[in-house]
Amino acid sequence: MLVTGGAGFIGGNFVHHTLRHHPEYEVCVLDALTYAGNRATLRPAAGSVEFAEGDICDAELVDRLVARSDVIVHFAAESHVDNSLNGPEPFVRSNIIGTYTLLEAVRRHGGRFHHVSTDEVFGDLALDATRKFTEETPYRPSSPYSASKAGADHLVRAWVRSYGIAATISNCANNYGPYQHVEKFIPRQVTNLMLGGRAKLYGDGRNVREWTHVDDHNTAVHLILSHGRVGETYLIGSGDERNNKQIVELVLELMGQPPGAYEHVPDRPGHDLRYANDTTKIRTELGWRPAYDDFRAGLAATIGWYRDNEWWWGPLKETAEERYLALGR
Ligand code: NAD
Ligand code: TYD
Repeated sequence: MLVTGGAGFIGGNFVHHTLRHHPEYEVCVLDALTYAGNRATLRPAAGSVEFAEGDICDAELVDRLVARSDVIVHFAAESHVDNSLNGPEPFVRSNIIGTYTLLEAVRRHGGRFHHVSTDEVFGDLALDATRKFTEETPYRPSSPYSASKAGADHLVRAWVRSYGIAATISNCANNYGPYQHVEKFIPRQVTNLMLGGRAKLYGDGRNVREWTHVDDHNTAVHLILSHGRVGETYLIGSGDERNNKQIVELVLELMGQPPGAYEHVPDRPGHDLRYANDTTKIRTELGWRPAYDDFRAGLAATIGWYRDNEWWWGPLKETAEERYLALGR
C-alpha cells in the first residue's frame, strides 16, 4: 500500500491505524515533508513502514512507487485555507498536478486508488438550512484550497469514466485528533493556552463545522477500500455540528481557563459559514458509524495528547504564529 501524505495529520494517523488493524498491508509512505509534514509523526511506526521522501508531482518517482503498489491511498495535499488565500500556487501544484501525476501512474500500472477529499468542495450552507451536503450536491468551492481539491476530485472522476481506473473518493468533514498541525483551529487554541496566550476567534465565531475524529475518518477510508464500489463517492462526518465560539468555550472549560480568555481577530476573507454532511450512504451501504460519538470526551483526549507531546508540536509553533501575525489573525 502506498500512502501519500503519510507524514501529515490524517495520513500519519492512517498509517498507525493500518499497522494496528490491517497488518496484512506492507506500507510505503510518499511525502515531500513540506512545512506540514513531520517525520516525528511516524516515529512510533519506525521499522514497520518504508519512507520515500519525494514530491507527488515527480512523475518518475510516482511511476516507480505506483508500479509496485496494489493500493494507493492519496492524502498528500496543501491543506490550510488561510495559506491558500495568502499564496495559492502550491495548492494548484500539489493538489491538482500532484493528483494528476498519481492518476496517470495508476492508468499505466493499475491498482486500487482512493482519493481523500473534503466537504469544502461543496461550498457552504446557510446556518439555518435544513438540507446538508450529499454525494449529489453540485460543487461550489469558495477558497483556493477547496477549488484545488474540487479540481482534483473532477480529475479522479474523469479518469474513472474515461480510462476505467479503479478509484473511489471520500469527502470528509473537519477532523480533530493527535498530530494535527498547530496552524489548524483546535490545536492552535490548545497550544496558545498551554503557552499562556489567548484563544483566537475569527470574526463573530458563528461559523459551524462538523467535527469528526481522525480515527473515524480513517476507519471509513478502510471500509471504502475493502467494500466500497469503484467509481463511487462517499461523504464522511460525525453529525456533530458546533460553531467556533462553542468550541473555544469548551476548550477553555476543559483546560480550566476563564470563559472569556479569548479574543476576536479579523475574519478570514470568504469565510465559509457552515459545512454539514448527510452520511446516509456510507452508513447504510458500508455500515460505518463514528466510534467517537462523544465530542467532549474526544476533545479532552486530544487536549491531553497536546499536553503530553509538546516535543512534537513545540518546534512548529513559533513559525505558525509568525504567519498568523503577518495575516493580522
Ligand atoms: P496535512 O497538511 O497535515 O498533511 C499533508 C501532508 O502532505 C504533509 O505531510 C505534506 O508534507 C504532504 N504533502 C504536501 N504536498 C506534497 C507534495 N507535493 N508531495 C508529497 N507530499 C506532499 O493535511 P491533513 O489535514 O492531514 O489532510 C490530508 C488530506 O485530507 C488532504 O488531502 C486534505 O484535503 C484532506 N482532508 C482534510 C481534512 C481536515 O480536517 N484536516 C478534512 C477532510 C479532508
Ligand atoms: P480550520 O481548522 O482552518 O479548518 P477549515 O477552515 O478548513 O474549516 O478552521 C476551522 C474553523 O475555525 C474555521 O471556521 C476558521 C476558524 N478559526 C478560528 O476561528 N480561529 C483560528 O485561529 C483558526 C486557525 C481558525
